[in-house]
Amino acid sequence: MSERPYVIDEMISAKAIAARIEELSHAIKEEFRDTNKLVVVGLLRGSFVFIADLVRELDLPVEVDFLEASSYGNAMESSREVRILKDLRGQIEGRDVLVVEDIVDTGHTLKHVVGLLASRKPGRLRTIALLDKPSRRETDVAADWIGFSIPDEFVVGYGIDYAQRNRNLPFIGKVRFPEA
Ligand code: PRP
Repeated sequence: MSERPYVIDEMISAKAIAARIEELSHAIKEEFRDTNKLVVVGLLRGSFVFIADLVRELDLPVEVDFLEASSYGNAMESSREVRILKDLRGQIEGRDVLVVEDIVDTGHTLKHVVGLLASRKPGRLRTIALLDKPSRRETDVAADWIGFSIPDEFVVGYGIDYAQRNRNLPFIGKVRFPEA
């Protein structure tokens, strides 16, 4: 089956993203300025671009680790099950942790990951998401820092995919399906 044709309209420019990351980095450095134990955890795959730009703005001693989660809908129970596909390489007990997410949508992924990491008894556990869609939330989770709060649009780019494509766009775009 061929893919339905679509166009991508720029929604948040690369320049606006860079400026926002610079702002956020000040708050993060303030929070963690006294630590030499910070582990920055990127959630694969969507956060790989954001985490790369973010850590380069943090002149702190950081370790970088990754975790991959996937969530599956369960229509019968109208719930979502989150599975860990790839766990951290390192230990986080007693260490400060910053979880980096590209987008918080229903919130199931972030809530599950925060619960899992909290059970490993880290020091401070904080979260940052580049994008937040508060109107889609189904859980009581909220990231400590948000880049941009956006309406319920179909977004791609800057790490975020549509059918595994468009992750390499340098900006956040909105997918639009022109009328046939
Ligand atoms: C997307 C996104 C978040 C999650 C948010 O990941 O990257 O991790 O969904 O959704 P939620 O708040 O409703 O749980 P996806 O499962 O598409 O994987 P990917 O990051 O590999 O693209």
